[in-house]
Amino acid sequence: MKKLLSVNNLQVHFTTFAGEVQAVRGVSFDLAAGEAIAVVGESGCGKSVTAQSIMKLIPSPPGRYMAGEIFFNGENLLPKTEKEMETIRGKDIGMIFQDPMTSLNPTMKVGHQIVEMLKKHTNLTGEAVKRRAVEMLALVGLPNPEKRYDQYPHQFSGGMRQRAMIAMALACNPRLLIADEPTTALDVTIQAQILELMQELKDKLGTSIILITHDLGVVAGFASRVIVMYAGKVVESGTTGEIFYRHRHPYTRGLLASVPRPGKEIRKKLNPIAGRPPGLINPPRGCAFWPRCDRAMQVCREVQPDMVQLSDTHWVSCWLTHEFAAKGANVRS
Ligand SMILES: Nc1ncnc2c1ncn2[C@@H]1O[C@H](COP(=O)(O)OP(=O)(O)OP(=O)(O)O)[C@@H](O)[C@H]1O
Ligand SMILES: [Mg+2]
Repeated sequence: MKKLLSVNNLQVHFTTFAGEVQAVRGVSFDLAAGEAIAVVGESGCGKSVTAQSIMKLIPSPPGRYMAGEIFFNGENLLPKTEKEMETIRGKDIGMIFQDPMTSLNPTMKVGHQIVEMLKKHTNLTGEAVKRRAVEMLALVGLPNPEKRYDQYPHQFSGGMRQRAMIAMALACNPRLLIADEPTTALDVTIQAQILELMQELKDKLGTSIILITHDLGVVAGFASRVIVMYAGKVVESGTTGEIFYRHRHPYTRGLLASVPRPGKEIRKKLNPIAGRPPGLINPPRGCAFWPRCDRAMQVCREVQPDMVQLSDTHWVSCWLTHEFAAKGANVRS
């Protein structure tokens, strides 16, 4: 499949009073045209910063792109100017933000916001623009789209705002949709509807999707591949099957053990991973997960494990995959 997006060795830092926060520490992944992938990991691991970097939306200061390339459709986005990015954002890449209010303007009617976007990025004019905006509101399943067109974001419920934001993100048929926790604040039924809607758009329009989520439960059945992030790095990536059933990183195992799964396992006790991710001002020298890892070896403390390829699609960064690592290694001192 043709590559649509290629993130290579992305590094993003933030300057704070406490020190330099190394939010993203060398992230690389690809996305093919028409593919849906998921990016998962605990809070603070750099998912949103990675997503915002693709849109070139990191505020500077305090943020800085320290290294890396983000190729979209064959062009590196990082050297682009703000003006150039404005022609790409919304048109070629749509984003659903973690907080709907960051992309909806509270002072402007929802319909008009979509119209502005369409006027900026398409050739539509006059009545056709309004028709398209109402069509988008209908497409995302908002009842009474004509009435909703004339309302403000505060007149919408949380789920409706999320839908309005999806309508806006998709109004210009972007080739890539980045959905940052699009369903976190919503109840389970609406969550399912929104994921179904995104799936439909992928199938009908061939939109590529990056779904960012805490919730591994929503990943299966939606994404063909999963990128697992920890402390600003990718620690494992593979097809959804590889990540769910043949994962090799103890962190991936920990994440999966803390997800309720259907079937008989539902009665099994959930095991959240003990401890917390490290601070990113002085991240550990070796593997960032070692302080929480029940199989950590001495080398894990000292040296970063390389990314090792296990299949055409499966990569992992863990010393346990080394041929000399003792089975069940647990040598912590
Ligand atoms: N503007 C900023 N200034 C300073 N630090 C920041 C800023 N934005 C993000 N960070 C830091 O970057 C790191 C990664 O944050 P990010 O928002 O990408 O996490 P996340 O994986 O999206 O988490 P969550 O699941 O909670 O949304 C965190 O340590 C965060 O505190
Ligand atoms: Mg986030």
